[in-house]
Amino acid sequence: QMGLKTTLLGKKIHYYEEVTSTNSTAKDIAASEEEGTLVIAEVQKGGRGRLGREWVSPHGGIWMSVILKPGIPLRHASRLTLVAGLAVANVIRNMGLDARIKWPNDVRINGKKVCGILTEAKAEVDRVDYVVLGIGINVNMDLKDIPESFRAGSTTLKAELGSHIKRVSFLQDFLFELEQQYILFKTQPFSHILNDWLALSDTIGREVKVTTPSRIIEGKAVGITPDGALVIRKADDTKEEIIAGRCIYARS
Ligand code: BTN
Repeated sequence: QMGLKTTLLGKKIHYYEEVTSTNSTAKDIAASEEEGTLVIAEVQKGGRGRLGREWVSPHGGIWMSVILKPGIPLRHASRLTLVAGLAVANVIRNMGLDARIKWPNDVRINGKKVCGILTEAKAEVDRVDYVVLGIGINVNMDLKDIPESFRAGSTTLKAELGSHIKRVSFLQDFLFELEQQYILFKTQPFSHILNDWLALSDTIGREVKVTTPSRIIEGKAVGITPDGALVIRKADDTKEEIIAGRCIYARS
């Protein structure tokens, strides 16, 4: 199928011209699908971002969801967000662009977002039944086609590279890289992936402000826990771990 270099990811592909959200479609079918099945669409009409935000998904991007069944405890599901971010960053770096990861899941080039990841899991007691790894990559679309409010802080691979990207070969390379990282995830201590992730992260060492539904935490990002939580050292020298939130870099 479309010359994939993977054995697991993309063995089965559900391709759509238009869906509401590939993550929603993937969750609907996940229970009866095998691990590695992909849902991909040209356009999403109701693309979802983290924290209830909208994800604008016009023609020209890559909007996809991967169904995984890693059989891990639910609290480890967020590790897969880091795995996917690392894979996206690696593939973009192989194109010669300086991709960096902003905690927890944004892949950015020159400080502008080119990819977002939305991980959703269903669990029975503490074991995940499945994880849907939703990945949105701004590839060839025209930023002009994106509403102003979403455009700020975003970029596309085409804009950064100065040329049109062949989406199919990009997807082949990305799935291969994601599969490699996923195999490492299943066979190696997570600290290995975490180290690679940290090397590409531009969050650690920065003054940050993280907003969660209940509060705002300010301080210096000093590390990441094995479950992917950000560790912040506050002005009073105490540390806090934040599992999810909106992270803003202070001017430096
Ligand atoms: C974020 O940065 O807030 C996460 C964005 C995730 C977008 C992708 S596109 C494919 C998949 N389907 C969705 O509805 N969302 C994810």
